[in-house]
Amino acid sequence: MSIKPHGGALVDRILTGQAGEEALKRAAALPKLILDRWEVSDLELIANGAFSPLTGFMNKADYENVVSNIRLADGTVWSIPIVLGVTPQEAEQLTGGREAALYDEEGELRGLIMVAEKFEYNKEIEAQKVYRTTDEAHPGVKRVLERDQYLVGGEISLLNRSKPGLFPEMYLDPAETRQAFMDKGWKRIVAFQTRNPIHRAHEYLQKCAMEICDGLFLNPLVGETKEDDIPAAVRVECYNVLLEKYYPADRIFMSAFPAAMRYAGPREAIFHAIVRKNYGATHFIVGRDHAGVGNYYGAYDAQLIFDNFAPEELGITPLFFEHTFYCRVCGSMASSKSCPHGGENHVFFSGTKVREMLSAGERPPDEFTRKEVADVLINYYQKK
Ligand code: ADX
Repeated sequence: MSIKPHGGALVDRILTGQAGEEALKRAAALPKLILDRWEVSDLELIANGAFSPLTGFMNKADYENVVSNIRLADGTVWSIPIVLGVTPQEAEQLTGGREAALYDEEGELRGLIMVAEKFEYNKEIEAQKVYRTTDEAHPGVKRVLERDQYLVGGEISLLNRSKPGLFPEMYLDPAETRQAFMDKGWKRIVAFQTRNPIHRAHEYLQKCAMEICDGLFLNPLVGETKEDDIPAAVRVECYNVLLEKYYPADRIFMSAFPAAMRYAGPREAIFHAIVRKNYGATHFIVGRDHAGVGNYYGAYDAQLIFDNFAPEELGITPLFFEHTFYCRVCGSMASSKSCPHGGENHVFFSGTKVREMLSAGERPPDEFTRKEVADVLINYYQKK
């Protein structure tokens, strides 16, 4: 039996068949809201159950509770606001209890919302509570500050799905990943969130976890990321060259997580864990500065936040890892928990340094990045 989805049941708000056709006909006469790519991604992840128990964009009570208490209004743990911003002009056309049609920026109808309420909100409070800063240099905060003035809450239905990008076979819904894990007979499934190319530290975390679980669920985030992050297609290519050579194929399952990256550190770690539970994972890796950016969060804040919740409130078990590195004296990957040697023996490069090396066509040492991965990245920087 699979792990229970968050809130107990997997949400399915994808309208097909007769109901879908009727909704399509109704949509033409409804007020129109335009969703940007981030909001379309949220719409789809609500609809396919990845964001269970959410059935729509948050109403005021849920939004405010999530911001202040990391819980929905009914007490269920939830850490990131999932909201739909609208302009005052758009808000004016909306009436509680009536539907509106949701379009993407290309003008394609994507879904419907049954408007429950529209409300104003305090962006500074949201930024401070969720991101722990109001600095607009923080990419998640910037997003909040740029969001429209009103939020509209209400249940959604999805009519037209996005066409999957470069790796269509990687776009699986939670019901499908759950089925795949059942077919494999896996009971302990450890999920790995990532938005960066795979380095040896990532590989070490994954393989440590593989020693105590039945399978590794690689779930790279492929939605919007900040400009200077490596594009998802390149990251997936890095995984493909590595998996082929260094991982047992029958213990790995990889699919895409088409969500936007919030860079909310601790809050996002909770969110990432809950969503991976919905995809069917039982365990979730949280390493150093998970989902962090710049110096906004302490290296282990994203682990400490888990102490605020009883294990059964989350349902998925976090696996915490210290900062890991290759130690020349140990002759292996290690962390401060397992290695007694000084930093001078550790192979470590900052993100900036690695970027410099790769852009100059130089491979970092194999102890930091495997050469197969380095070559994919060098190729990317050269084309860029
Ligand atoms: S993240 O934004 O998705 O967290 P990244 O893809 O770099 O970024 O990290 C994926 C996971 O690996 C996160 O849980 C992160 O904490 C962990 N991680 C990355 N590098 C290290 C490291 N050197 N030591 C320990 N954990 C790490």
